[in-house]
Amino acid sequence: MTTPTSMSTIVPSITQDRILILDFGSQYSQLIARRVREAGVYSEMYAYDMDEAAIRAFNPKGIILSGGPESVHVENSPRAPQLVFELGVPVLGICYGMQTMSEQLGGKVEAGTVHEFGYAEIDVPDADRLFAGIEDSAGKLKVWMSHGDKVTQIPANFRVTASTPSCPIAAISDEARQFYGVQFHPEVTHTLQGEALIGRFVHDICGCAKDWNSDNIIDLLIEKVREQVGNEKVLLGLSGGVDSSVVAALLHRAIGDQLTCVFVDNGLLRLNEGDQVMQMFADNMGIRVIRADAESRFLGALAGESDPEAKRKIIGREFIEVFAEEARKLDGVTFLAQGTIYPDVIESAGSKHGKAHNIKSHHNVGGLPKDLAFKLVEPLRDLFKDEVRKLGVALGLPESMIYRHPFPGPGLGVRILGEVKKEYADILRRADAIFMEELNRSGWYAKTAQAFAVFQPIKSVGVVGDGRRYAWVIALRAVETVDFMTARFAHLPYELIETVSNRIMNEIKDVARVTYDVSSKPPATIEWE
Ligand code: XMP
Repeated sequence: MTTPTSMSTIVPSITQDRILILDFGSQYSQLIARRVREAGVYSEMYAYDMDEAAIRAFNPKGIILSGGPESVHVENSPRAPQLVFELGVPVLGICYGMQTMSEQLGGKVEAGTVHEFGYAEIDVPDADRLFAGIEDSAGKLKVWMSHGDKVTQIPANFRVTASTPSCPIAAISDEARQFYGVQFHPEVTHTLQGEALIGRFVHDICGCAKDWNSDNIIDLLIEKVREQVGNEKVLLGLSGGVDSSVVAALLHRAIGDQLTCVFVDNGLLRLNEGDQVMQMFADNMGIRVIRADAESRFLGALAGESDPEAKRKIIGREFIEVFAEEARKLDGVTFLAQGTIYPDVIESAGSKHGKAHNIKSHHNVGGLPKDLAFKLVEPLRDLFKDEVRKLGVALGLPESMIYRHPFPGPGLGVRILGEVKKEYADILRRADAIFMEELNRSGWYAKTAQAFAVFQPIKSVGVVGDGRRYAWVIALRAVETVDFMTARFAHLPYELIETVSNRIMNEIKDVARVTYDVSSKPPATIEWE
């Protein structure tokens, strides 16, 4: 069972008006929490079986019951704690949430004859408070449905507020108790008025103020960090990625020189990346950053190894050793800062039972030696990625850094196939830089989720002027994806691919051929390894 995080126990003013989301396992559950926060109201998500004491301690101004994959009419299917309906706060049940609310309050749910999935138009002939004034056209809303079962009999004191031809009970409410149920999903953007409906629930029905915004969040986090850290010293592993960069900027604002960052240059970074990180954080922002130049050490350890898993292990191990060595040189550091964010917390808590606190399996901190006994400070633990990005912008980090593509921990180590050598890394860095430059120039960088070059340790024949060239092959990879679990290769214009390919072969004499990867995930992965 998860327990409320630190923020819930302190309850600062901007999170005083808070919404509790109970998760029944829908793929959209996290979206509910994000939408509520986008509406300027703090929310947290817990497993549906959160214990009653924890619910009381959370002290929500409203509760949302998520959708879920199970069937209410099946024995032992999940139920909301009965306390949810006894606290005297408004409740919004979404899909499964509406079904279990109906059943728990005396209504009836049955298996539908067909699974309804996709767009539907609901009729709202006589709007209640939830729907009043919210519509696409007179009394109608386009919504996103995804359900098999449906409510066939509503509980006492409820009324039906919306219907479709195939789902006569598409929304219900008991306005006296402020209980609302919708069979569709207001949290997905396909429901055009979804944002308005969630805003209506949290602001007007639950009475929550719009206090959750970047400026307030920064003030709150700074206050919390100062309270937690006092005048002790903090160490942060700075990777140059979004999360650790935002932590660096935030901690610097909160505790100034008590923060020291370690940036490990492992020789597997993109072109000029190490210099850029140093320039931005050390030179521009005045943050104390130690640059550990560990290229020869990493490449030495990787020499002769071509197995992808073994390479990953070596890189992870060297990273921890270098980081630990730098940490030992620092005097009196007691805290280790981490860029853990809320999805990491929710994922490690699981949607059912599990532990809430799990160190991010980022390669840099998982297995630090025992003699380095740090306390953890994780200021972004309660934030979603989009909130972290907004915070970064508000803290003055450049958008080019905040919106950049993810870069894997093992870096070019997974983009040089087979054995890693400095010669290969240097060629790959140059090819990759040309690709990035042209993607940015053409506007395609922002239209792809991730793009990079890959070094193939094979030689191919080419011709340059009167001479023959026998040189390496570079593959270009660009994908479109939202969740990185599945991905489609980006349909880059041929002209762009042609420009990149010509430039790589003309500017780098060690490359004889350029290919474009047209594999989707699955069955391929995004990285080549
Ligand atoms: P794959 O190749 O599994 O990658 O389709 C999915 C996403 O994860 C990134 N990735 C990593 N990120 N450490 C990281 O921090 C790693 O070891 C690692 N391996 C893959 C990959 O770049 C893509 O965004």
